[in-house]
Amino acid sequence: MTINTIVIIGAGQAGANAILQLRQHQYQGKIILIGDEKYLPYERPPLSKDVILNPDSTKVEILSEQKLQELKVDVILNHAVQKIHRMEHWVELSGGEKIHYDKLLIATGAAPRRLPILDALAKHVYTLRNLDDAQALISVLQPDQRLILVGGGVIGLELASSARAKQAEVVLLEVGSTLMGRSAPRLLSDFLLTQHRQAGVDIRLDTQITAAKLENDHIILDLNHGEQLQANAVIYGIGVIPNAQLAIDAGLDVDFAIQVNENCQTSDPDIYAAGDVATQLGEDGHYHRVETWENANLQAAIFARHVMNIEHPKASPAWFWTDQLGFNIQFAGDLHVSDWHIRKIKDSKTTLPSFIAYGLKDEIIVAAITVNAAKKMRALKKMISSQTSFASITEIA
Ligand code: FAD
Ligand code: APR
Repeated sequence: MTINTIVIIGAGQAGANAILQLRQHQYQGKIILIGDEKYLPYERPPLSKDVILNPDSTKVEILSEQKLQELKVDVILNHAVQKIHRMEHWVELSGGEKIHYDKLLIATGAAPRRLPILDALAKHVYTLRNLDDAQALISVLQPDQRLILVGGGVIGLELASSARAKQAEVVLLEVGSTLMGRSAPRLLSDFLLTQHRQAGVDIRLDTQITAAKLENDHIILDLNHGEQLQANAVIYGIGVIPNAQLAIDAGLDVDFAIQVNENCQTSDPDIYAAGDVATQLGEDGHYHRVETWENANLQAAIFARHVMNIEHPKASPAWFWTDQLGFNIQFAGDLHVSDWHIRKIKDSKTTLPSFIAYGLKDEIIVAAITVNAAKKMRALKKMISSQTSFASITEIA
């Protein structure tokens, strides 16, 4: 079948990279990009960091208007796709307009999981997912403001770091017993706990909100341990929910996220999904959902290659990073292993701690974490790919 028109729903990380990849692989047909935000595709990682700390000098755009013109992309912004008509191969926009596709990519990302007890306050309560959210936070993260952050994951910790840089007072409430519990092994959670407490973040683990109210324009929270806290504002980041409703309504296979095969194809071969909205069948026979910048790019590339009938190379170890309190922390490989070995970086140029943590399975390196040692990551990824034994690498750090 000739592919004349590819429609991409979602002008985010995966959507933007899908365009670049399609053109790089010589796709000559029409590309229509539909986004429900008013912005051209932009990067989200800076939203919790530089967009708040250095708003004037931070650029987030992935594809400029000029670049999109060069790439011959029809861009429709400010419009949500509200329905996919699979039989007719149409998507229907919020205004009712119908657009034909030969192949469709759903790259709709995810939305913050809601906490109704806080949403009910309607004032001084924030979440962070998009550029508007980040811009709203600039005036909240200010000196002398007393902030409560709810959730000790990536968003909570990166915002805690930015808030301390802005000299705001910060209390962070985490329901679990560790920080970044979804993605970080214990040694890194403990490291972050120490560093954030040293930086003045008042971290409360095993803590939940039991009641919330507004009084004299301040937020008052009751906690499960019986304590009461007061704040000027509350920001919460308690995980995300994939924006999969379009796929559910269209009858595609969805299990929380949209299920895709190794080619990023959904249960309808003309419809693909990539990024935070997708959960992909792995070689182990299980579906995995990965909420990272790299994964959005990777799955977009898999989609483009499959459409163009080009084989994709074997994936390198999964990788992501976080920036907190002056620490650049990078993660690669299978972080669920329990055998971790730390090696300090001897020639570190920073006064902050700098180390590599090796994750082993049967003495083989299957995971690695670098803390302020980004330059080592490329070599570490190679070691993971080539199943290097830990005993053979004592010279790296
Ligand atoms: P998105 O980039 O969210 O794009 C989806 C787009 O689709 C959005 O614009 C959305 O509004 C739009 N959309 C949704 N529904 C519709 C519809 N019906 N019609 C039209 N458009 C629609 N990852 C890292 O690896 N490292 C980091 O340090 C890091 N930091 C982060 C910091 C923040 C504050 C955030 C929010 C994320 C961070 N991430 C980080 C995660 C990374 O940014 C995401 O994994 C990535 O953006 C996912 O890309 P995506 O294309 O799937 O979704
Ligand atoms: N009260 C306090 N903490 C809670 C609650 C609650 N009611 N519910 C969940 N949490 C905690 C979880 O235990 C977890 O530690 O919130 C944290 C959420 O962490 P993440 O799953 O990392 O989610 P979040 O920080 O919101 O990040 C969302 O943004 O940066 C991206 O890649 C990141 O996709 C992820 C997204």
